[in-house]
Amino acid sequence: METRLARPADLPSIGRITNAAIERAGETGFTAPLPALHWEAWLEAHRPDRHPVIVALNATTEEVVGYLSLSPYRPGRGILDRTAEVSIFIDAEHHRRGVGKALIAHALALAPALGLDRVLGILLATNRASLAFFERCGFSLWGTFPGVARIEGADVDHWIVGRAIEPPGPGSVADSEDRGHTPPPSDPETGAPGS
Ligand SMILES: CC(C)(COP(=O)(O)OP(=O)(O)OC[C@H]1O[C@@H](n2cnc3c(N)ncnc32)[C@H](O)[C@@H]1OP(=O)(O)O)[C@@H](O)C(=O)NCCC(=O)NCCS
Repeated sequence: METRLARPADLPSIGRITNAAIERAGETGFTAPLPALHWEAWLEAHRPDRHPVIVALNATTEEVVGYLSLSPYRPGRGILDRTAEVSIFIDAEHHRRGVGKALIAHALALAPALGLDRVLGILLATNRASLAFFERCGFSLWGTFPGVARIEGADVDHWIVGRAIEPPGPGSVADSEDRGHTPPPSDPETGAPGS
């Protein structure tokens, strides 16, 4: 499996994977499928040098099987620039095959060059699989926003999971075997730094 920066041609797959998660309910805050029009502006807003979108490709078919996006945490507030919010969606047929882990490894490897040293995820408390996933990827539970969501008449908490990112160097997280991703060479299409 390969991971790389997203391109406009990936958007139909990204939309399909996200809408499938929306339909499953309890995994995202959206209550209706997102229209195709949504995605172009979304990708443009994710500057590759600050808040990229990364996709994972099936090794044989090269189809997009999952993606991760980094977004500003509380945008416009400069003191929070070091921190990004991660969102991640994997095609259900490719769950539990290491796709999510590979995407997180790629994002963590890029983070220092993006000016990021903290990442956090915001999860619905109905989504225990994603809590297990993030914990497996070195995140821990940083806090709970009680009852901020309502699902079928019930109050549901938001969990905030996060982790610090060590700068690259011998023995660092980005250097460790488990994360083993080396950022790809500069992408001629996006010009992403260090990737
Ligand atoms: C959460 C999600 C991203 C995990 O992606 P994935 O590619 O299936 O995860 P991986 O195969 O890389 O799993 C890595 C580890 O995470 C843990 N994990 C992943 N899914 C899990 C699950 N359903 N239950 C328990 N642990 C799980 C396991 O420790 C796993 O390692 P293992 O398979 O060797 O036991 C995926 O289930 C998904 O897209 N869910 C829907 C969208 C979502 O909830 N996104 C998170 C909110 S933004």
